[in-house]
Amino acid sequence: MKNYEDKIKDLCSQMTLEEKIGQLQQCGPSLVGAFDVSFDELLNMMFDGRISQEEFNRLMGTAKQDFHEEDLRAGKIGSYNGVGDAATVNRLQKIAVEETRLGIPLLFGYDVIHGFRTVTPIPLAESCAWEPELWEKTGRIAAKEATAAGVHMTFAPMVDVSKDARWGRVSEGAGEDVLLNGVYGAAKVKGFQGDDLSKEDAMAACLKHFAAYGAGEAGRDYNRVDMSMQRLWEEYMPAYKACIDAGARAVMPAFNDINGVPCTVNRWLLRDILRKKWGFDGLVISDSNAIAECVSHGIAENKKDAAKQAIFAGTDMDMSSNSYIECLKELVEEGEVPESVLDEAVEDVLRIKFELGLFDNPYQTSGERESQAMLKEEYRLIAREAAVKSMVLLKNENDVLPLKKDARIGVFGALAADKGQMTGAWSIGARPEDCISILEACRERGISYQYGENLSDIQRIADESDVLVAAVGELKEESGEAASRADITLNQEHLSLIKELLGTGKPVVAVLFNGRPLAIPELAEHVQTIVEAWHPGVEAGPAVLDVLYGDVNPSGKLTVTFPAATGQCPMYYAHINTGRPGGKSKFTSKYLDAPVEPLYPFGYGLSYTSYTYGDLKAEKTKDAVRVSVSVTNAGKRDGDETAQCYVQDVAAKRVRPVRQLKGFEKVSLKAGETKKVEFVIPLTDLSYYGWDMEEIPCEGTLRIYAGGDSRTELMKELIL
Ligand code: BGC
Repeated sequence: MKNYEDKIKDLCSQMTLEEKIGQLQQCGPSLVGAFDVSFDELLNMMFDGRISQEEFNRLMGTAKQDFHEEDLRAGKIGSYNGVGDAATVNRLQKIAVEETRLGIPLLFGYDVIHGFRTVTPIPLAESCAWEPELWEKTGRIAAKEATAAGVHMTFAPMVDVSKDARWGRVSEGAGEDVLLNGVYGAAKVKGFQGDDLSKEDAMAACLKHFAAYGAGEAGRDYNRVDMSMQRLWEEYMPAYKACIDAGARAVMPAFNDINGVPCTVNRWLLRDILRKKWGFDGLVISDSNAIAECVSHGIAENKKDAAKQAIFAGTDMDMSSNSYIECLKELVEEGEVPESVLDEAVEDVLRIKFELGLFDNPYQTSGERESQAMLKEEYRLIAREAAVKSMVLLKNENDVLPLKKDARIGVFGALAADKGQMTGAWSIGARPEDCISILEACRERGISYQYGENLSDIQRIADESDVLVAAVGELKEESGEAASRADITLNQEHLSLIKELLGTGKPVVAVLFNGRPLAIPELAEHVQTIVEAWHPGVEAGPAVLDVLYGDVNPSGKLTVTFPAATGQCPMYYAHINTGRPGGKSKFTSKYLDAPVEPLYPFGYGLSYTSYTYGDLKAEKTKDAVRVSVSVTNAGKRDGDETAQCYVQDVAAKRVRPVRQLKGFEKVSLKAGETKKVEFVIPLTDLSYYGWDMEEIPCEGTLRIYAGGDSRTELMKELIL
């Protein structure tokens, strides 16, 4: 990357104190008319269901927005959040460039979480494809569309490892495993940023939420995080580090505290670790209103105190809380904050603007580019590929699937007719009309189907159908931010529908649309076939039919454990054994009223063929453990299989997880074909942290497992 340090220093030296503080201010438009609320509040209203997404889109389209132009002209705004159209971006940029004293261009940030207009599956879903090339590809198309709409930076990827299905934001990351989150996040960073950040179709990645936001107690959003340093460094931090290594140019501190200090004001986290230890020199931008919220968190006396703590900790830019713009001037003038501390933050803001090429080319898009950039046919194809590869076949008794081409199907459940719901949480740029519902896809394909809107239709339709398909799960508002659930079972309406369908005696296929793992023991027991489709994006309908009719052999594998009951949460595969692993006898680690095992384990997923594993070999070299295993497609259809490699350090100086994923590889196998898959695990990836945080190498017996999911029994022991 080009070095802009001289230019940055030079520009900073010309700035007044007010201009410097202005660069640290990010705001969103306020809406005038309609509800007269800020953009953030309007977003809130959509997320908590006070208004629908359609209403939100209508308001965004019609209500007059106040972009605080007077402040902008006065050099009091450095960045906007939530402005995603070329005309507005260019209009505001023109004010910044032509009407402010120094002409410093604006930075436009936006939550492009899983696609902009071409909404791809939610991240949790996409992670189930176990395919880094795909993750990068969908990141690239998101960047192409978003940058055409004027966006310079996306608040993604989120790599908050989460082991708790109750947390609504589990939908936004790659699930419960740290390695997988890191690989996923790094691929997204590459996709978003491309090979040169200054190109017009590259957008900066803002890694979030640093750190351990996914470990909130009891899965409740924004809740406290309390864990050992060893666990933090082994199970959470490596995912963030992987994204920094991949070149993410921005970072968002998490809302939660770590060891009692909220991340926004956590100097250890943002200075000692992120900047000094990891060498990060990009932008740190607070989460929405997070600086001011340090007051209710109980760590700051007032906004001014919060601003002081945040700037000292290394939070460069204030998103939405106005703490910097209101308090920093006074803090500097009173000598509470040295101007040099402010300068460091300003330099970080200027650096990302230089790197994005905004000084040379502040108008990176045009209405014309924008109008030609969206929803291209090739993007739709990628969205469909991603949706298909995300789907996980959880059960398929008696080979109900794939359906025969001429099968007559009865379709039930409101989600089958829905377009808006298919895009899932955090899809602000989505338009329901862009999305193809299941029913539309059935019509397009000329499938013989009937849709039952009422329970009273069931018997008649069942009599005239070969298979019944039930679209059940969650609404998109039921996952995502501020959408934790204390009960993750299917709702009563969906359970009753399933019961009625089962009563007809016809085979039932449950297609689940949801943003988190669900506890579905009834389905697992009684329904013949279950397809986990997640919230699949704009190509929902065609992708579901590709899987049901076997145009594509499903290959998705779970990246989160499916518990059998909510009370098992947090439930995850990489747990420790305890001294009394759950067993038949009384005094073991288990529940009286729920199994100790999950319903579906991490890594699990079926296909229309079957795979066998064998010939597992492992050897230690100077600096790695080399593993090989052969995978055979033992069935009659070609398919893709993700081979997984896990390890267990059997006896160590601290208790270690029963299994940890150390490698994975997706291979295409023709029917009957065998391939050898190899994993190289550097010894450094096996070490862990001791009592005093010293790094301890793995020694003694290492069990190495390979197979198609985290419960594989194929094992080899190696003495290290
Ligand atoms: C979320 C962030 C998001 C931000 C900006 C916050 O409420 O926690 O993930 O990027 O809003 O919209």
